Amino acid sequence: MCVMGDTMKDLYILGIESSCDETSVSIVKNGTEEIATVISSQIDVHKDYGGVVPEIASRHHVKNITMVLEECLERAKMTMDDVDAIAITYGPGLIGSLLVGLEAAKTLSFVYQKPLIPVHHIAGHIYANSLVKEMKFPLLAVVVSGGHTEMIEMKDHYQFQKIGGTLDDAIGECYDKVARVMDLEYPGGPKVDHLSVEGEDTYSLPVPLNDDSYNFSFSGLKSAVINLVHNEEQRGNEIRKADLACSFQKVAVSSIIRKVKKAVQEKQIKYLVLAGGVAANKGLRKAMEDLAEELNVDITIPPMKYCTDNATMIAAAGYFAYLDGRRADLTLNSKSQDTLQ
Ligand code: KG4
Ligand code: ZN
Repeated sequence: MCVMGDTMKDLYILGIESSCDETSVSIVKNGTEEIATVISSQIDVHKDYGGVVPEIASRHHVKNITMVLEECLERAKMTMDDVDAIAITYGPGLIGSLLVGLEAAKTLSFVYQKPLIPVHHIAGHIYANSLVKEMKFPLLAVVVSGGHTEMIEMKDHYQFQKIGGTLDDAIGECYDKVARVMDLEYPGGPKVDHLSVEGEDTYSLPVPLNDDSYNFSFSGLKSAVINLVHNEEQRGNEIRKADLACSFQKVAVSSIIRKVKKAVQEKQIKYLVLAGGVAANKGLRKAMEDLAEELNVDITIPPMKYCTDNATMIAAAGYFAYLDGRRADLTLNSKSQDTLQ
């Protein structure tokens, strides 16, 4: 850590995120204060395909990365000389997409002689919360995204202990498949969430993995919705989409909440954070807040802009990774899958 006399020098971390379909660069001061962020989203590009097409995503990252970097520095009114270190999402994600960000980060690190900090994408989602409020421990991070559904216990900064996770599909993936069978446009998760408010819980759906573990399961619930829609179509019945969205959301959210409650009680958790793209879900946000109140624990839920993929969270995590002594050299490679540790 940079120390000058007794005063600690401010650390400006430049974060780069390109693991899926967002090209993003951000500069964050001391892991808590966003200086500038630029996000170039490819949602419109992939909409026509009903999901992210990896090869197209990589090509767009290549096209955008330099512009996004330059615009971020411009907005921050900084140059690379003002940056103390570069934090990069090395994984998990789409390998071609990850490599574009990684090569940019390595080039900057080499040319400007700045330390390179490897950041796991999920650590980024968790540390989105440090941009909101100081993180306190023992903490339980509830990670809900397109690729992950996990509970991670943290006894201190950058100490990750996965205590449970999905046995099959991630919750975001389940939301997107349910949306697709209901003919809602990609990305479907937010549309199901939105629609659920207008409906009533009238469809009966199976409660997933109603057991004593800390694990989740979403494939059975997903299949149940798909079968229900197909059966109704075969009978010539119209689906009440808002009602189905409402019933689905109720089961999906309560299956998360039940396990979070168990973990908070059994692990003497004092502080809850919600993380990942599905943290934008209004039903889940409300249910988590209610649970925190019921159990009398502190909670942070990131604002919408920090829920979906962005480099602000990577730069924030990068700061704490830096303090933890984590560094990479130019042999760092991208990983499509990797355990958070
Ligand atoms: O974290 P993220 O941007 O990408 C991954 O790292 O996976 O999460 C994207 C996922 C998608 O599955 C998207 O449908 C879901 O988050 N999502 C939502 C909502 N907003 C985004 N799911 C349910 N309700 C929402 N409001
Ligand atoms: Zn993500």
